[in-house]
Amino acid sequence: MGILKDCINKKRTSSIPVWFMRQAGRYLPEFRDIRQKNPNFINLCLDPKLSKEITLQPLKRFKLDAAIIFSDILFVPYALGQTVEFKKNFGPMLGELNLDNILGISDNDFLNKLKPIYQLIENTSKDKILEKKDLIGFIGATWTLLVYMLNKQSPKKLNENIYNYKNEDELIKKIIHVQKLHVKKQVESGVSIIQIFDSWAGLLSKDKYEKYIYKPTQELVNYTKSLGTEVICFPRSINSYLEYCNEIKPDAISIGYEVDPLEIARNINIPIQGGLAPQTLLTDKENLKKKAKKYLDIFKDHPYIFNLGHGVLPETDPSMIDYLVKIVKDY
Ligand code: CP3
Repeated sequence: MGILKDCINKKRTSSIPVWFMRQAGRYLPEFRDIRQKNPNFINLCLDPKLSKEITLQPLKRFKLDAAIIFSDILFVPYALGQTVEFKKNFGPMLGELNLDNILGISDNDFLNKLKPIYQLIENTSKDKILEKKDLIGFIGATWTLLVYMLNKQSPKKLNENIYNYKNEDELIKKIIHVQKLHVKKQVESGVSIIQIFDSWAGLLSKDKYEKYIYKPTQELVNYTKSLGTEVICFPRSINSYLEYCNEIKPDAISIGYEVDPLEIARNINIPIQGGLAPQTLLTDKENLKKKAKKYLDIFKDHPYIFNLGHGVLPETDPSMIDYLVKIVKDY
């Protein structure tokens, strides 16, 4: 366990902890090499040897404080029996949702389908490179999973039909049930922190937050805490991070690049992660340093984990990541 966990627990750390969402991925040539030979993304993630290698690729290059398991939030619908495919230049595509099948999936069926992920975690958490570092597991928030399961692809905007699904309550209950199974098994297998991705939180209107975001996320956060594991929440583009923190009480909050970090620093008193726009890495070093320092300065009296406001973009030059890590570590 490393300084990421210390920071979340408000302990002093020797330097500012840093990791990146999508730190393993297409911007790395060594990832593209493996990916090219493995056109099926699902099978790649479910190969514990390859997914371990990919998980650790960024740690071999950069002085990062944590690895995040190479997997995907859509393994929850996958293990519930809904087909999931990743189409080149399109993103995920899900198949028909058959509620009877989903409700009929037993806990064992669900966990068996995800066994290679738990194997990946077991193997990776014991690797020497992660000594004194954290291994982050993750899960999609109930709302974001519901969006994918009903919309069957990334939503450009919210399809109102999502609210007309008549067996919604049963489906939500089942999703929460298996989310807990998946979190517990990840923790038992060796992750030291859980991050909850609510990538589509920003699509909902405020009057729907209670039902679709606050209630299910509270349940998951409390459950993860009850396992003794710290939980970071990333409700991307939510209307109010402050209200979200007051409702959910995560151990740390990850912020997007759309919010004013000054306002966050002034109002939120739990550990904060992220914020810098990933597009900044596509500019030049001088600009990157200026923008990164802005976040470091604003959060200098706060427990702060350096990260981006969303994932590393595929067009990113790896040398810019290296430079950014050095800026953070020399601060
Ligand atoms: O490095 C990491 O951050 C860990 C691995 C990780 C992936 N997906 C791998 C991945 C994580 C944490 C995720 C989470 C995820 N997956 C989210 C939440 C975070 C966010 O981005 O908002 C969401 C919404 C998904 C669903 C998903 N998976 C989409 C929309 C896509 C296609 C878009 C894209 O970037 O290609 C994926 C595929 C995916 N998941 C890739 C990776 C590395 C790209 C696969 C490829 O190589 O083609």
